[in-house]
Amino acid sequence: MAQIYSLANQKGGVGKTTTAMNLATALAAIKKHVLVVDADPQGNMSTGLGCLRKNRAPGTYEFLAGASGAECIQATHIPLLDLMPTNEELAGAEIELVSIQGREIKLKEALATISDKYDFIFIDCPPSLGLLTLNALVASHFVLIPMQCEFYSLEGLSHLLRSLERIQGQLNPDLAVGGIILTMYDRRNKLSHRVLTEIREHFPKVIFETVIPRNVRVSEAPSFGKPVLLYDIGCSGSRAYMDLARELLSRGAPEEKKQVQRVDKEGEKKWAV
Ligand SMILES: Nc1ncnc2c1ncn2[C@@H]1O[C@H](COP(=O)(O)OP(=O)(O)O)[C@@H](O)[C@H]1O
Ligand SMILES: [Mg+2]
Repeated sequence: MAQIYSLANQKGGVGKTTTAMNLATALAAIKKHVLVVDADPQGNMSTGLGCLRKNRAPGTYEFLAGASGAECIQATHIPLLDLMPTNEELAGAEIELVSIQGREIKLKEALATISDKYDFIFIDCPPSLGLLTLNALVASHFVLIPMQCEFYSLEGLSHLLRSLERIQGQLNPDLAVGGIILTMYDRRNKLSHRVLTEIREHFPKVIFETVIPRNVRVSEAPSFGKPVLLYDIGCSGSRAYMDLARELLSRGAPEEKKQVQRVDKEGEKKWAV
């Protein structure tokens, strides 16, 4: 049975897709069998993994509509890493799902049919808390929250945590916060440093030790259809994503993680805006 992670944050441009793709690649590099599900109609993950537009269907849209994993999943050029691609069609699913019974559990049901083939499944969510993100969160054991080190991120985070709490209460009691990942960190920027310090103080357990630096190689890689680990293995971004993968693996069993989450609830209350 795979451990299923959603990369979620209703803010766009915080590093969800970059983190999903590179964390998945790093885990595949250490011999884990990984699937990435592109659940954002923009299809950035599909582009970043070199999947041409004409090859993006069947994908996540068709999978939600009942097509099999075998039809919707394809191998990438990276050993042990598979992709369920997507195209703009998926935007329609957000509307079509509304009238369907059990609309929040469609992805969970579909993933249950393929979950035993993988060690990890990463779902890349769109920048909203709509039905696609909801489906991803209901299907997941953990949510990973990429965040940029800037002031507005803090406001967005408390909103996201409240939404997660509602989902835990009503739709997926097993969902745990797998961690907050700080991305695009610039150590010369004082605000970056302050935000990092503040988040570490309030969420000491949930925050990942590994911080992803701002690194131009990371932003160049998708235009070559490659994760940064394949584009430039020695750059600071690649090293950080390898560290993040190791940290994820060392974080222990699901039960421990849930306790971590309860501990950090206190921090959230003190700090919520
Ligand atoms: N560590 C990084 N260093 C430099 N640029 C980055 C880094 N992480 C992400 N980016 C760039 O920032 C932009 C937003 O990242 P992306 O992963 O697409 O965010 P999201 O999926 O949350 O919208 C992209 O252009 C990406 O290439
Ligand atoms: Mg994205």
